[in-house]
Amino acid sequence: MSDNVLSQFKQAEEAVKPADTGRKLRIGIIGTGGISWCHFYNYLKMPDVEIVAIADLIPERAIERKEQFGLDNVRIYPSHKELLDNEELDGVSVCTYHRQHAEPTIYALDKGVPVLLEKPFTVTLDEAVEVMRAEKRSGKFVSVGFQPRFNPNMQMIKKIVQSGVLGEIYYIQTGGGRRRGIPGGSFIEQSTAGIGAIGDIGCYSLDAVLNPLGYPKPLTVSGYVSDFFGKDPKYNGEDAKVFDVDDFGAAFVRLEGGIILDFRIAWAMHPDTPGDTIIFGKEGALRIPSTDCWNGSLDNAMILYHDVCGEQTETRIPLKEEETSDFYMKIRSFLDAIKTGGPSPVPTSEIVYNQAIIDGIVKSAKLGREIEIEIPEI
Ligand SMILES: NC(=O)c1ccc[n+]([C@@H]2O[C@H](COP(=O)([O-])OP(=O)(O)OC[C@H]3O[C@@H](n4cnc5c(N)ncnc54)[C@H](O)[C@@H]3O)[C@@H](O)[C@H]2O)c1
Repeated sequence: MSDNVLSQFKQAEEAVKPADTGRKLRIGIIGTGGISWCHFYNYLKMPDVEIVAIADLIPERAIERKEQFGLDNVRIYPSHKELLDNEELDGVSVCTYHRQHAEPTIYALDKGVPVLLEKPFTVTLDEAVEVMRAEKRSGKFVSVGFQPRFNPNMQMIKKIVQSGVLGEIYYIQTGGGRRRGIPGGSFIEQSTAGIGAIGDIGCYSLDAVLNPLGYPKPLTVSGYVSDFFGKDPKYNGEDAKVFDVDDFGAAFVRLEGGIILDFRIAWAMHPDTPGDTIIFGKEGALRIPSTDCWNGSLDNAMILYHDVCGEQTETRIPLKEEETSDFYMKIRSFLDAIKTGGPSPVPTSEIVYNQAIIDGIVKSAKLGREIEIEIPEI
């Protein structure tokens, strides 16, 4: 559609800060499993960073990463504690499984080290609150590893919502997922993951719509979870024997400001989508095509529905290409925040509401009724 309409959303792109080539930042990586590869890879692209120490409960994993990236001088530790007790760091990536997000993060903050924490923030709301209390007492920050925040299409959603073209937002349906896409390993057991699809990809789906709205506080949630695919060997093979988290979740959430959030997320389901994301406003609506919900990229254009001179009009929002990878930007933004002493690029003060919804879904599903969300004083 016309450039005129689209130009309303155009804002100056935030300039990427140039890397400071002064003293190198001393970085540690805790947890050297699957996702740590992206942390190593991107830190090593930064001229102002030195990876000095890494830790894993399984030493072979840390050794493998050390060799894979040719990091001859990197010291290896058997857990986050030894690493943080023995190293003077400027920052640390916490890339452990969900059940080990809170403890190493709190330990790092109490040692005065800022943290880039992989998603989801934590497993429970109580853990998230404990992390925020540690942030408060240490004066150091946590950035939660939501790389889609740096995707230009995700940023466009925020620009559109904040431009006011949709008017007051009153209802959002969001979610996504895949027909068959149950992960394995540490993602599917209570002891390591604690939560399934609702935490793994649900956190991104929630962020995609709550961040544009400025994170309204969730007030109540009526949640549902199921595990029909994960527990069935027909769909999940041998993993079905150990699978004990959710593979599907849905919720009806009341947000501050009278906004309703209708949410669904699936690691596995029979349809190809639980529905597109649609943001309903009094002046317009935005349809965001359903995705696998993890990297912020879209396969199809978003559509803006609005009236122009009394005519019902649809405006196609052109897809934007990433100029720099979202993951690179996630790491770069963390490093820049270390240098400036914050603020956090993806702050816990926002993501605690995301976590409160996930926590609310678990609790409400267990009770079989709607619950009120109460966030303890930080
Ligand atoms: N941002 C993304 O796109 C993305 C993608 C995949 C995974 N993740 C997140 O990253 C986290 C890790 O995922 P993964 O696939 O790498 O899992 P993984 O199981 O492959 O690796 C986690 C590693 O952490 C180690 N570990 C656990 N507790 C530890 C501790 N206290 N000290 C040292 N090491 C410890 C484990 O031994 C394991 O090797 C998960 O929370 C996941 O949600 C993010």
